[in-house]
Amino acid sequence: MNNQSLEFSVAPMMKWTDHHCRYFHRLITKKALLYSEMISADALVYGPTDRLLFTNDFDHKTIIQIGGSNRKNMTRAAYKIQKSGYKEVNLNIGCPSNRVQAGNFGACLMEKPNLIVDCIKSIQDKCDVNISVKCRVGTDKMDNKDFFNFIDLVSKSGINKFVVHARKAILNGLSPKQNREVPPLNYALVALLKKRYKHLKIILNGGIKSIETGYSQVKKNNLDGFMIGREAYQNPYILIEVDRMYKEKNVSLLRHEIAFNVAEYIDKFCNSFVNEDFRILRHILGLYNGMPGSKAWRKKLVQKTNYKRMGDKLRFATDEIEKYINIKRVA
Ligand SMILES: Cc1cc2nc3c(=O)[nH]c(=O)nc-3n(C[C@H](O)[C@H](O)[C@H](O)COP(=O)(O)O)c2cc1C
Repeated sequence: MNNQSLEFSVAPMMKWTDHHCRYFHRLITKKALLYSEMISADALVYGPTDRLLFTNDFDHKTIIQIGGSNRKNMTRAAYKIQKSGYKEVNLNIGCPSNRVQAGNFGACLMEKPNLIVDCIKSIQDKCDVNISVKCRVGTDKMDNKDFFNFIDLVSKSGINKFVVHARKAILNGLSPKQNREVPPLNYALVALLKKRYKHLKIILNGGIKSIETGYSQVKKNNLDGFMIGREAYQNPYILIEVDRMYKEKNVSLLRHEIAFNVAEYIDKFCNSFVNEDFRILRHILGLYNGMPGSKAWRKKLVQKTNYKRMGDKLRFATDEIEKYINIKRVA
């Protein structure tokens, strides 16, 4: 496996990886795959499709994640996604929340693989779009054998890409947040999965804190890629390492170049002073993490100032931190 065929992605995260966030992440990395937040298939069918599938022109490489188990609506949603120019639909079979379980989708579907297979077959029948699955290594009711049976059944419907969050989903008694922390990580099981199903593309997810550690897990276990969620959001500048991993030349922007670009984006997007500006800005609060002055920079962005426009506030705070970093460098 060479690095070019390796797949790196930023995880789908509700309320986090919206189109503004993806715009920002794309400034840092050209090579990462970016996922949308989960959109329920029903919302896509009955709701404001244009708004839900809105993306900036640059970003039709985004993979749209959907949740649902109603075959008809999943197919209609996938069709709308395809029509909007996206190339891949990802099925959410990993979310453990009560709300999602009540709607009969997310991780509880790992125990009902036939429902997923029905949806996949119907989408394949009516649409021309790639389909992948994001799942867990099982639910609390499942053992390893059940997990392999799940993969076996679903892959036989023609799916060849599985993103696996290497934790079980505990469907009773844990919140979604706890479900991302309490169940132990089981990378060994994901490695075994790849050993057994060499023909499948297996992407590792869960608890990866840097591009370097993800990369070494992938190399060690012959996996096909890795996905990072929280760390990429909270510490986004780690994403410049992705393009280095692909030996992409000449692409990395410096932090202040990124911040100024986002300031311009905010000017453009919020020219009528709609309340959208902080919804954009919040995604970049971790940009200077680890640098001197990062706390003060963040504070300047969130506190009230005389700047009417958020873009100006961002430019001012960024000028200040860059001066501070230079002073520290010289000292
Ligand atoms: C705020 C938040 C929202 C999330 N929303 C989704 C989602 O919409 N779909 C999904 O498949 N996973 C979702 N996840 C789970 C992540 O995609 C990922 O599987 C999980 O955080 C583990 O990866 P990490 O340890 O790198 O963060 C969410 C995680 C967080 C923190």
